[in-house]
Parts: sequence; structure tokens; C-alpha cells
Amino acid sequence: MKVICTSILVLTILGLFTTAQRAPKLLKELWDDTAKPFKEGCIAETGVNPQYADRIFLYSEFINDRALMCYLACIAQNVGILNASGEWDKDIFVQRAAGTTPAMFNSCNEETKAVSHVCERSMAMAMCIVRHVSTL
Ligand SMILES: *[C@@H]1O[C@H](CO)[C@@H](O)[C@H](O)[C@H]1NC(C)=O
Repeated sequence: MKVICTSILVLTILGLFTTAQRAPKLLKELWDDTAKPFKEGCIAETGVNPQYADRIFLYSEFINDRALMCYLACIAQNVGILNASGEWDKDIFVQRAAGTTPAMFNSCNEETKAVSHVCERSMAMAMCIVRHVSTL
């Protein structure tokens, strides 16, 4: 019984935080490839559930998990799109995050810049980008 309740709870949480919107398959694969070289290091650094890390880019599963948010920030820093002060580099962002445009960057940066913590801001930024590319 406890297992069933836990499973239902987990599924509900996944349902709530896995956005209905997903990036096109090609972009998801390109993002996963870009993240790949830094995956192991960022999993170790953040202690994120490796399954969440495996699925965030490939399946657009943005689970509301603090370690996963910091994993995303870690990847972004390593890819070079987020600097040590927690600020995005627009030029590198549109170069390295496949499918993004300067307009998309500006809109999502504007929408998320007030989020004070860099991990949460990274997650909000990624979800905003996915929302934009989903409607392409
Ligand atoms: C991060 O980028 C911002 C905006 O370009 C810049 O002002 C800041 O000095 C940078 N921080 C580091 C540590 O490079």
C-alpha cells in the first residue's frame, strides 16, 4: 500500500512539473549532445538523481527538484553560456543552445531575470526556451 501511494505521489509530481510542452526531437538530441561532456561532473557536483539528469534534455522533463536545477546551472556554466556571476552570455547562448534566437533569449531573459537564485533561474530559463521552441 505504501509503495502504491508513493508511486501515485511520484507520478503526480512528475505530471505536475513535466511541462506538457516539449522541444522538437532534434533540438532535444542536440541539447543532450551539448550537455554530454559535462554530465558526469555535474551529476557528481550537484548530487542530482542521474535519471533526472538523463531525461531533462532528452525528454523535456523539468522536474521541480533543487539538485536538478543546480545540475542545469552547472551544465550551463560548463557549456559557457552562464558565467561565474550567474549571468547569461547572449552570443554564446544562441550559438550553443541549438534552435534559440536572440529574440527568444531576450524574451526569456526578461521573463526570468528576477528569479534570484541561479539554479532556479536556470530552470526557469530552460523552461521558457522550451516553451518558445515548442511553438515553432
Ligand atoms: C558575467 O557577465 C556579466 C554581464 O556581461 C558581467 O558584467 C560580469 O562581470 C561577468 N562575470 C564574470 C565573473 O565574468
